[in-house]
Amino acid sequence: MNVLVVGGGGREHAIVWKLSQSPKVDKIYCAPGNAGIALDAECVNLKAEDVEGLCAFAKDYQIDLAVIGPEVPLAMGIVDEMEAAGIRTFGPNKKCSQLEASKAFTKHFLEKHDIPTARYKEFTDKQELLDAVGIFGYPMVLKADGLAAGKGVVIAETEEDAKKAIEEMMGDRVFGNAGDKVVVEEFLTGVEASMLCFVDENTIAPMESAQDYKRIFDEDKGPNTGGMGTYSPSLVFDDALQEQIREQILEPTLKGFQADDLDFKGVLFIGLMISKDGPKVIEFNNRFGDPEAQSVLARLDSDIVDIFMAVTENKLADAEIKWSDKKAVCVVLASGGYPGSYEKGKEITGLEKVDEDVIVFHAGTANEHICDANSCRSAVVTSSGRVLGVTAMGDTHDQAREKAFDNVKRISFEGMQYRNDIGLIRSDLI
Ligand code: AMP
Ligand code: GLY
Repeated sequence: MNVLVVGGGGREHAIVWKLSQSPKVDKIYCAPGNAGIALDAECVNLKAEDVEGLCAFAKDYQIDLAVIGPEVPLAMGIVDEMEAAGIRTFGPNKKCSQLEASKAFTKHFLEKHDIPTARYKEFTDKQELLDAVGIFGYPMVLKADGLAAGKGVVIAETEEDAKKAIEEMMGDRVFGNAGDKVVVEEFLTGVEASMLCFVDENTIAPMESAQDYKRIFDEDKGPNTGGMGTYSPSLVFDDALQEQIREQILEPTLKGFQADDLDFKGVLFIGLMISKDGPKVIEFNNRFGDPEAQSVLARLDSDIVDIFMAVTENKLADAEIKWSDKKAVCVVLASGGYPGSYEKGKEITGLEKVDEDVIVFHAGTANEHICDANSCRSAVVTSSGRVLGVTAMGDTHDQAREKAFDNVKRISFEGMQYRNDIGLIRSDLI
């Protein structure tokens, strides 16, 4: 069969890598892809947001299955458009994509179906919000309602910071339309963890867990990023907690989808706060996490095509989903300056020195011709903030971690930065 993967980051490389192991797959296309994806798939020069172009491509190239990686095309309704064009597509439709594209939509849903989450109130008027500053005390959690590339949440420690954030969101409109509505939440404390689930209209099937590291620096210091690394399985989830999550969150979520006619088919990514009162939902995303996908899919033993097909046919309950007992650690190598401004086009060296059983998922890389006075050669260069995800497996977390970092040290590019504590088990976080 012919498969099209939409997106061009580390998550999409992990999806392409897993698809390439399936005997059912003849040809993989990826739009737009990157330099690493190009080794496993044919990259197509179309942006992930070019819904019309992607639908036309899928028809012209007889795509049997399209898999959508990022949230923006999902929110634009790419799944509805693909299906209207007769293309089988893995991912939620536009209506269900509101679960990530609107924080207020998700809060309504959670409250209506009695799923544990932080108390909240939504505002569309700046003055009303300014008058309500500190409504749930401090820190004050302020969230731009719409998609803001992971940057739309402000945790304001003081009244002054909160007023500044309100002014930026609703006055200066730094998040554009995404900040026309602002959700204010009670601040939750506890340990954060993410749970990814395959979902169709009848079944919600949690994947193996993964722990993300959101801050840029070791020991969770510095600003938030898209994610600087993951390890899987997460040690936060023991059997009792898994059972509590199933009963209080997963089952009511599936029942809620059914009651509200949300025919969700794809991946539901649940951001959780494990508080002293039990697990609470912080957010829903409607796609694989990045870099959660890198360490979770590295441990998937079953054929991912069978799972994707089963979800699109509402037969997830019958699909075989088997996981390796091995532990995985993924260390993200990022550009100097990220998550602030950074330079692109830095040559990456040492990729050929990486062990064969270590997977280097490419996130922001491109192929470029580099010429000096005498000659030209082809090189892999950086093209984004997060550049590579070095993923290693081991019988224990420590083995996986050691192997990952041993290989990280063989790769270099100017300004390269990474966290040294990915997969280092901190007892205060369990
Ligand atoms: P979100 O995009 O909603 O996941 O929020 C981004 C990050 O902000 C989360 O990963 C948490 O670290 C933090 N956060 C969001 N909501 C809350 C909350 N109600 N209480 C405490 N921290 C939160
Ligand atoms: N790693 C967090 C995310 O994908 O949203």
